[in-house]
Amino acid sequence: MKFKAIALAFATVATMGMHAGAWAQAPIVIKFSHVVATDTPKGQAAERFKELAEKLTKGRVKVEVYPNSQLYKDKEELEALQLGAVQMLAPSLAKFGPLGVKEFEAFDLPYIFPTKAALYAVTEGPIGKGLLQKLESKGITGLAYWDNGFKVMSANKPLQVPADFRGLKMRIQSSKVLDAQMRALGANPQVLAFSEVYQALQTGVVDGTENPPSNMYTQKMHEVQKHVTVSNHGYLGYAVIVNKKFWDGLPADVRGQLEQAMRDATTYEKAIAQRDNDLALEAIRKAGKTTIYTLTPQQQAEWRKALQPVQKQMEGRIGKDLIDAINKTTAAIR
Ligand code: LMR
Repeated sequence: MKFKAIALAFATVATMGMHAGAWAQAPIVIKFSHVVATDTPKGQAAERFKELAEKLTKGRVKVEVYPNSQLYKDKEELEALQLGAVQMLAPSLAKFGPLGVKEFEAFDLPYIFPTKAALYAVTEGPIGKGLLQKLESKGITGLAYWDNGFKVMSANKPLQVPADFRGLKMRIQSSKVLDAQMRALGANPQVLAFSEVYQALQTGVVDGTENPPSNMYTQKMHEVQKHVTVSNHGYLGYAVIVNKKFWDGLPADVRGQLEQAMRDATTYEKAIAQRDNDLALEAIRKAGKTTIYTLTPQQQAEWRKALQPVQKQMEGRIGKDLIDAINKTTAAIR
């Protein structure tokens, strides 16, 4: 009897020990949710971050990537991040308005970035850092900017001059700047979650849309859009963000390793974004369902003229100082 009791006690302690060991080794899980396909610049960089994060932390962190709105759609994913249901996202810069950080919509202003170099001068300089800091009061920490690229416009009719947009229902992201942009072209903007765009185009809920080619191709939008204009009228990029409480609560060494993983994933992302978009445009062309247009200098001038008032109109929302600071920064490196 005595022996049995000791054996039982021993077994209990051993089991507890095992549990304690297992507990100590349980990885920290980062759920990384996003809305695009894996085979896009953002999708591939999320996978690269996972790989680097797990390697650098030697398995102390496990990153679960959920692409294609598998877990959440646009608006829901931001709520989920704030609630801590997911830890990491990379929403487009056009989607921070509903969070109360309207300044990010400056990135949507038509023609504000003449080149990627001009864009990087903003994102990697004090303006970019200052914008990420504004997220802190929302319980969010901004880690990096990721690229997609310059946008094309599509519809089932050719879009070569602003008059071609008259009366078209154009899907936009939830940005007031994009709303103003479509109105300046004479179109009727409609906000829809990214996951709903293909079907909305297919069923005629909307007539057209804008996105870089990589998003268009991987969602098969070209199958339901007969005409694409390489207008490069605006930019689409991302901020990689984490739940602040989660991030601040990580062991310092782990956080440092994750910051390194993010730096390396960001370098990779920037290196592949342009190539991915070039390949996607080529794939759309090859699919043979869509006519692709480039604008003549005369047509480009007409687009610029129609869209030029948007900066002024949006000063009240975004801040004149911020718009001026961006213009000053980009002009300096032209
Ligand atoms: C969109 O909603 O159109 C895109 O911004 C989706 C994305 O994250 O690239």
